[in-house]
Amino acid sequence: MIMPKSIQLHDLHFTPYLSEAAIQKRIQEMGQQIEEDYRDKKPLFIGILNGAFMFMADLARACRFDADFAFVRLNSYEGTGSSGKVVTMIGLKAPVEGRHLILVEDIIDTGRTLHTFLPQLEQQNPASVRIAALLSKPQARVKPLEADYTGFEIPNRFVVGYGLDYNELGRNLPAIYQLKE
Ligand code: IMP
Ligand code: MG
Repeated sequence: MIMPKSIQLHDLHFTPYLSEAAIQKRIQEMGQQIEEDYRDKKPLFIGILNGAFMFMADLARACRFDADFAFVRLNSYEGTGSSGKVVTMIGLKAPVEGRHLILVEDIIDTGRTLHTFLPQLEQQNPASVRIAALLSKPQARVKPLEADYTGFEIPNRFVVGYGLDYNELGRNLPAIYQLKE
């Protein structure tokens, strides 16, 4: 698919940043890497809604071994900046005790979401917890936190598409766009 040169969501303009092909290629690599580590462990992937829905779907298909999949809904973002608050909107129904967990995030930005959520999970005694994030903005980090599997490290610039939204628009774009300067 050809990426439009510029798109508008609400009042903001965005330019192409990561193509659909580049994203899909990287996810295949991540799937292979995760398979090497988890082939016989039947991990539980926990996708963080809403942003991770598309990445979770493609990562799941790139992981060709037995696994379980679940979602939670956490919320910390308003507009183009982090509100700093993290609220659990939909909790986890599946028991995680003794399970190998892989948290699936669209992007790690300040790190606050996972920094708040990880201790809640660890209280339930999982066998292990790792993080898979499609994108990471290391320069935006407020909490010390790194993903175990990272798709792309990107500069500290607001991006949309492939699950990521600007005030709920842009999630369904198959590629990733960045805010025009
Ligand atoms: P953190 O808690 O600051 O690490 O942010 C995590 C959440 O903020 C992500 O899961 C996204 O939903 C949202 N977010 C962070 N950066 C961006 C961005 O550039 N565009 C859209 N959403 C973002
Ligand atoms: Mg998210």
